[in-house]
Amino acid sequence: MGEIDRGIPQVGGCGACVVLISKYDPTTDEVTEFSASSCLTLVNSVNFCSVTTSEGIGNTRDGYHPVQQRLSGFHASQCGFCTPGMCMSIFSALVKADKPKPGGEPAAPPGFSKLTSCEAEHAVSGNLCRCTGYRPIIDACKSFAADVDLEDLGLNTFWKKGCADVGKLPEYSADSVCTFPDFLKSEIKSLIPPEVITGDDSSWFHPQSIRELHSLSDSDWFDDNSVKIVASNTGSGVYKDQDLHDKYIDIKGIPELSVINRSSKGVEIGAAVSIAKAIEVFSDGTPVFSKIADHLSKVATPFVRNTATIGGNLIMAQRLEFPSDIATVLLAAGSTVTIATASKKMLCLTLEEFLEQPPCDVRTILLSVSVPDWGSENVIFETSRASPRPFGNAVSYVNSAFLARTSLYAASGGILIEDICLAFGAYGGNHAIRARKVEEFLKGKSVSAPVILEAVRLLKEAILPSEGTTHPEYRVSLAVSFLFSFLSSLANGLDEPAKAIAPNGSCANGIMNGSVKSSPQKHVEVASDYLPIRSRQEMVFNDEYKPVGKPVMKAGVELQASGEAVYVDDIPAPKDCLYGAFIYSTHPHAHIKSVNFKSSLASQKVITVISAKDIPNDGANIGSSFPMFGDEALFGDPVSEFAGQNIGIVIAETQQYAYMAAKQAMIEYSTEKLEPPILTIEDAIQHDSYFHTPPFLAPTQIGDFDKEMSKADHKILSGEVKLESQYYFYMETQTALAIPDEDNCITVYSSTQTPEVTQGVIAKCLGIPLHNVRVITRRVGGGFGGKAMKGCHVACAVAVAAFKMRRPVRMYLDRKTDMIMAGGRHPMKAKYSVGFKSDGTLTALRLDLGINAGISPDISAMMPMSIIGALKKYNWGALSFDVKVCKTNMSSKSAMRAPGDVQGSFIAEAIIEHVASMLGADTNAVRKKNLHGIDSLKVFYGDAAGEEPTYSLVTMFDKLAASPEYKQRVAAVERFNGGSRWKKRGISCVPITYEVRLRATPGKVSILNDGSIAVEVGGIEIGQGLWTKVKQMAAFGLGPLCPDGEGPLDMVRVIQADSLSMIQGGFTGGSTTSENSCEAVRLSCAELVERLMPIKKSLEATSGTRPSWTALIAQATMASVNLAAHAYWKPDPSFVSYLNYGAGVSEVEVDVLTGAMTILRSDLVYDCGQSLNPAVDLGQVEGAFVQGVGFFTNEEYATNADGLVINDGTWTYKIPTVDTIPKQLNVELINSAPDHKRVLSSKASGEPPLLLASSVHCAMREAIRAARKEFAVDSPLTFQMDVPATMATVKELCGLDVVERHLESLSAAAKA
Ligand SMILES: Cc1cc2nc3c(=O)[nH]c(=O)nc-3n(C[C@H](O)[C@H](O)[C@H](O)COP(=O)(O)OP(=O)(O)OC[C@H]3O[C@@H](n4cnc5c(N)ncnc54)[C@H](O)[C@@H]3O)c2cc1C
Ligand code: FES
Repeated sequence: MGEIDRGIPQVGGCGACVVLISKYDPTTDEVTEFSASSCLTLVNSVNFCSVTTSEGIGNTRDGYHPVQQRLSGFHASQCGFCTPGMCMSIFSALVKADKPKPGGEPAAPPGFSKLTSCEAEHAVSGNLCRCTGYRPIIDACKSFAADVDLEDLGLNTFWKKGCADVGKLPEYSADSVCTFPDFLKSEIKSLIPPEVITGDDSSWFHPQSIRELHSLSDSDWFDDNSVKIVASNTGSGVYKDQDLHDKYIDIKGIPELSVINRSSKGVEIGAAVSIAKAIEVFSDGTPVFSKIADHLSKVATPFVRNTATIGGNLIMAQRLEFPSDIATVLLAAGSTVTIATASKKMLCLTLEEFLEQPPCDVRTILLSVSVPDWGSENVIFETSRASPRPFGNAVSYVNSAFLARTSLYAASGGILIEDICLAFGAYGGNHAIRARKVEEFLKGKSVSAPVILEAVRLLKEAILPSEGTTHPEYRVSLAVSFLFSFLSSLANGLDEPAKAIAPNGSCANGIMNGSVKSSPQKHVEVASDYLPIRSRQEMVFNDEYKPVGKPVMKAGVELQASGEAVYVDDIPAPKDCLYGAFIYSTHPHAHIKSVNFKSSLASQKVITVISAKDIPNDGANIGSSFPMFGDEALFGDPVSEFAGQNIGIVIAETQQYAYMAAKQAMIEYSTEKLEPPILTIEDAIQHDSYFHTPPFLAPTQIGDFDKEMSKADHKILSGEVKLESQYYFYMETQTALAIPDEDNCITVYSSTQTPEVTQGVIAKCLGIPLHNVRVITRRVGGGFGGKAMKGCHVACAVAVAAFKMRRPVRMYLDRKTDMIMAGGRHPMKAKYSVGFKSDGTLTALRLDLGINAGISPDISAMMPMSIIGALKKYNWGALSFDVKVCKTNMSSKSAMRAPGDVQGSFIAEAIIEHVASMLGADTNAVRKKNLHGIDSLKVFYGDAAGEEPTYSLVTMFDKLAASPEYKQRVAAVERFNGGSRWKKRGISCVPITYEVRLRATPGKVSILNDGSIAVEVGGIEIGQGLWTKVKQMAAFGLGPLCPDGEGPLDMVRVIQADSLSMIQGGFTGGSTTSENSCEAVRLSCAELVERLMPIKKSLEATSGTRPSWTALIAQATMASVNLAAHAYWKPDPSFVSYLNYGAGVSEVEVDVLTGAMTILRSDLVYDCGQSLNPAVDLGQVEGAFVQGVGFFTNEEYATNADGLVINDGTWTYKIPTVDTIPKQLNVELINSAPDHKRVLSSKASGEPPLLLASSVHCAMREAIRAARKEFAVDSPLTFQMDVPATMATVKELCGLDVVERHLESLSAAAKA
């Protein structure tokens, strides 16, 4: 049974495949619309529905929809892979907001929707974007909201600052798109009553009653393995199907499952009612109900909630130990369930009884759940969840729901607990539980600190995460925090932890229900449940090289928004196309003895398995290669050298069959005569297992370490800091399509940043000359370095398979396989000794660095240079280091955006903070003291330092850190921390320096007869706006030939990269590919200008006017002028690298009780030189920063003991979402001083700004330091905080036992 998407293998967690589903009710003539994730929606379930995709709301032919136009105009799309899904999430929010309501509502002002700004932010809360940093997406979305001040929205193509006006926006009117066509309505009307698909010969059964369902499950063909009973099938986003199913039973047609009964006793909800519908029902009720609704609105994402059912969730909780939110909140609310058992009995059970039963079999059907009405008198109900994302789209570490019936305690006037129900879930138990002993203890008590302390003690006996649960102590401490928060709100005069802003993932559902009022808070905090996202952008525009320098819209952005843009997987499958999926080893070092398949439906789909033996005789087992550094094997053969290594490719008729068949592989390993694997840096050092750095890439030491160290007043001799890996999380996973051609040739469409390298690897692997291999890349759905070396493997794999099968073969990695095989950022450990004077001046640094590079050399030899490069932003006095690039039995680590530099820059900050805390000095003062002057800059960076006027770092740092506003904010943070016990804030400013290198790059400009222009460049459009800048440069370069001096921008098309058409393309990476490509284009244009200028002059002379562009080209064509020019630009050997500078301030708030962190504000200043396109560069700065925030805070790259990646999907690996970016993000692009040695004086923007995200980490450390002071945690000031600093890390550093400490001190004080 197919899903309705194009096969994006993401399983509901990313939103890239969101569509609008519309249902028509012929009896009421009403259409209902909702968004849904198409990858989870089974085709048959949309029978009689209309499905609208982004292309359906607007496209090239029929015109674009305002959602698409506004996303484009707000520069809200980069690689574009997420953009159609974004469009549909926004579009469905608009449809929902503007749907006529019963009783009517005032109309929205013209041009606007009834959507509010808050709803606009929530509309895309389930959609992931790895490129933009979300801010422009939110702005585009908010432009529809009537309550927005348009002037607050960011840079766009519609107006200049100060001239915002709704009339300038692409016009929006609510009913411009028909979501349900009339012909379909007529068809449905003619089918009343609707046809039901049943019968043995079908694969889709849709029973209309319990009886029918029972007869299906009693029939002979029903077997638990091959039949799948589904409601909305979103569960497959959580528990991936392990085999194909050939029969589905859709239970949503059974009337009992759709009931919604409200009475004075409570609410009964059918099991097939969606979570979204349940929210609607509960919102409209007493306080307990509305708290349930509130909590439910943080479950999953809007587009999952629209279809996911309450029953499906509870069954998953009961049968599969799913960490459900719904089970927990309904348990505390005293719910009961009705089930129909396999033996056809109807049972009514309490939810607790139901959860505690042994897992129910597949024939047991949950019919409905009933929640009693608790009224609003003397009842208090609270729910909480702690998860990495506050708006949902992340399962909780712990969730809880508490219901207490209280009375006034006559003796003291305080509150007495009459009865209480305490439910906890997701903590790592089998299912949600009630903490019965704690309940018993609390009954009849008036709450005080000693009472809570005892309750906490009892709770810790009940919350027992099972073995294997991640962060078990953290989870227990969360449960304690939740209980403490709740009980202290019932206590007399106890300091209640404020439920101030809902920070990352810690959501307590507002203030108390019931008639009892909370005690007045001692500590006042800024309380706001919703902090809207705000932003400011400052930049200089320059007309000198127009249209270069203009913030023009991204090339092809509307195509991206409408979904018409063609990525590799959108290329129609050629005739006889086959599909592949990798079988990977799960052993880090073992002989592969055999590969067999389980007996299963999926195994029957295996056509063949391609392995090393299928590599042609003249070829080699090679999957990627970096010139001069070395190769990586395509197949682990005969020995698998890391967990995650490809050992074979399953070939099948469809991609789905290939995925499922690969899961059936059973690999037999043997470790006989093999050394144990080397997995860690320590292992590698012990075994001398290293990759060597060629001398020309080795960074140079500076000064005499021993001598300078001896001058130090203070020394730190054994500092240590650790950084983990980061996964690319490009939205388009690795993909390629290979088509064999005549005469041993092959064409490979590859999503790669390196077509030239890919071509070389394929040729070597197949043993054919390079000219037999054509690699074509149009656009890449996000790369971030991951499609440099790693893309080669996939391209090479399909090439080998296609060569062998003599048929086209395509492969599109599912997210899990991609995450397991891709490698990612280099993890590392740094040990340091640093000397410094009492005034903070550094005298010497010694760094011993171990890098876990994985199995192959890849680009790892470059790491020392880039790490040290970014670390050198400070004048360390003398700098000595030893960098060990360790070879281990792990997936090979590769370039990831700002590779090495981000770690080096962070290590520098960790050392500076250590120094400052040892001195008890202000960290910024220590930073400032040690920033370079131009002389030391030259010592540390040599020629790359450039001339003094271009050294803008100190000015930028001062602008942020020495401003009066910064000082006020520091004081405000201190005031806040003084008055707030459970939330602490921190603020920090970080400078960055980033060296980039220019590279030789080709470009070709061809003018066609009609004057249109085709441009080819070595660089690949990976979302970074390369095509846009190249287009602008082509127009600039041809400007002298045009009447008004500006070339015809609209006539320029940049065409796909083709490794045979444009040779020596090099690679796209290192931040300078756009400018390199631009320069090659400028040179090509200069040649064309030289050829065409005489014709222009002669036309001018004859006609007396400047010829139009088309007239000039027509004349040149007649004169047989060569209208194509090719250039291979090489940088001047005296200027091959330059430095980029920036500074960033971040202010954060940390929740001491949960470890959640909110970035309240970030201000970034970045020296972009004379920007080639400020809109593109702004997008790069914001996007890189947010990607860096993910690295520093939330992205947990976890592996098992064998090194196999276990956080392998959207479910466990959490990149930033709209709710985790800074609440206020201000960016200023400055242009320091012109330097004409750089391309039109521009600078790079792709990678350096990522380093600014360490300001968030540094600010977190300040906040944690304040917490440690408050709670007297050991060594309050000096502590190490590794990367990433996740919620669990933050909580651990604040103190897992802060609640107990606090209660103990209160209890002791009370006794005294
Ligand atoms: C991206 C994502 C994020 C999520 N986040 C959260 C979260 O934060 N918190 C949370 O609590 N949940 C979360 N969920 C889980 C979500 O709530 C469930 O997937 C959903 O409710 C299941 O409903 P369904 O109709 O799709 O069930 P299906 O997928 O159709 O079914 C799930 C299982 O239940 C069985 N089943 C379904 N209905 C019945 C019935 N009435 N009787 C007997 N068996 C039945 C099916 O046979 C199947 O085995 C998330 C899910 C996704 C995909
Ligand atoms: S533009 Fe959003 S993922 Fe690339």
